[in-house]
Amino acid sequence: MTNRKRPAVYITRKLPDAVETRMRELFDAELNVDDKPRTREELIAAVKTADVLVPTVTDRIDAALIAEAGPQMKLIASFSNGTDHIDIDAAAKKGITVTNTPNVLTEDTADMTMALILAVPRRLVQGARVLMDKPGEWEGWSPTWMLGRRIWGKRIGIIGMGRIGTAVARRAKAFGLSIHYHNRKRVNPATEDELEATYWDSLDQMLARVDIVSVNCPSTPATFHLLSARRLALLQPTSYVVNTARGDIIDEDALVQALRAGKIAGAGLDVFENEPAVNPKLVKLANEGKVVLLPHTGSATIEGRIDMGDKVIINIRTYFDGHRPPNRVLPNRG
Ligand code: DGY
Repeated sequence: MTNRKRPAVYITRKLPDAVETRMRELFDAELNVDDKPRTREELIAAVKTADVLVPTVTDRIDAALIAEAGPQMKLIASFSNGTDHIDIDAAAKKGITVTNTPNVLTEDTADMTMALILAVPRRLVQGARVLMDKPGEWEGWSPTWMLGRRIWGKRIGIIGMGRIGTAVARRAKAFGLSIHYHNRKRVNPATEDELEATYWDSLDQMLARVDIVSVNCPSTPATFHLLSARRLALLQPTSYVVNTARGDIIDEDALVQALRAGKIAGAGLDVFENEPAVNPKLVKLANEGKVVLLPHTGSATIEGRIDMGDKVIINIRTYFDGHRPPNRVLPNRG
């Protein structure tokens, strides 16, 4: 790219130092050093002048914003795996290419999913709190104190058997869980064999038979409130729900009600319907030990975030070298 004008790249959030340094070397990069989320007005100004927008999951890149883009805006290179914050169809209509950062956060997110799968039944936070909040009150080991629920030998039902769902299944199998899954289509036989996985065409039927539900599908109009009040009612009272995908896949009010009524045993949530706002009723349930809440940290490792930045850079460079970027997101994926 030496003889060409460097693309003007507007980055909405602070990125790891190594990524920002590389971006400064390669592009005419406008960074966000203090990491203050950009306002709508700032985003509108950016799409009018920059060649590339690098947003992330905290930005709303909707049709109205895309309509403001000037003719120079060519690429939205999102620093994220999920793209539900971007109106892909509107971008395509405007001739703007969209890319994301798949693969590199699969294992980290699956690790955190596994942590949540363990955390609620094994009372991880409650136990840790005893020693952190009132260490002097611990009277020592007791045969009947702080008992949780065993997870090995139970059934996990994974909703969405894409990259992350499959990585969760591998971990869950190693922890002695039997694997059940619901997906738009069945995964290939070799993967099913490896995981000894049972495919459920009917989500309802799977929900009625599993002990732990892990939500790992993308947020799309079709998956909005997929775990509705009706579906949550199909779960057994001893079951747990874990969500490291997107908050709006579960009807959060219905989940709160099911937990309060003892219709399900617990939940582990890394994502919320109205992020960054968290329903105070969920916080109350967390204080009662029925749920574990994490602040959307499923992919939050320094290695993962640097890998994501590298992907963004490769997508931008490939595009401006005149090729199809490797992580192009196509409209109407269903
Ligand atoms: C993403 O990139 O979509 C994730 O939600 C970030 O953890």
